[in-house]
Amino acid sequence: MKLQLEDTRQVISQSWAEREQILQRDVNLFCWSRSVNEEVRQFLNHLLEIDFDPVACPVSQQGLKEQLALVQDSWIDFGIENSDAFFQDLSEIVFAFLNFSQDRSGTMYLRKIDHNACSKFHTDGYYLRLFCTYSGPGTEWLTEDNVDREALGTSNDKIVRDQNKVRQMRAGDVGILKGDLFKYTGAANGIVHRSPEIADTGEQRIILRVDIN
Ligand SMILES: [Fe+2]
Repeated sequence: MKLQLEDTRQVISQSWAEREQILQRDVNLFCWSRSVNEEVRQFLNHLLEIDFDPVACPVSQQGLKEQLALVQDSWIDFGIENSDAFFQDLSEIVFAFLNFSQDRSGTMYLRKIDHNACSKFHTDGYYLRLFCTYSGPGTEWLTEDNVDREALGTSNDKIVRDQNKVRQMRAGDVGILKGDLFKYTGAANGIVHRSPEIADTGEQRIILRVDIN
């Protein structure tokens, strides 16, 4: 049975244990609404002060400990210290997310951003994406009744029906976004989202992203 567009929904949950709801065919966003602990928050403030190279690397459940240890070690060269609590937090969500991958692997990106990454609302060509804005303004997204999918690729004023109803994840929230590859299984279309505009505000974001294709 073909899924009706208007049936598509997003799940905002206080519980990470409910993340498998993303696999329901009518769900295209699972958002774990949470705050990071004080130790991680303090570390993120420290991280905002430091320039470091963006991280892009393959990750797998089996090798995650070693893969993250390499990143953590390389950060020492940038003067980034006391990162244990942060990597513990990151490790837990990435490990759990990789369960959604058939071969328990994906690609991880971790970086600081001070520009407007993709300011036009869009969907992406992955299967599932884990996304956490650890610091700064979070990803903006649209409920199905607020998006004109026919207008995707044009401009935000055509794509978004009501600017006042644009939703936004908060710093620390952990999102699992369904991408376009999923719809070939008869599931909902990918979640329509964009990066917040920060170029003129002087704000920075620290973002974690893991893609499963
Ligand atoms: Fe995107």
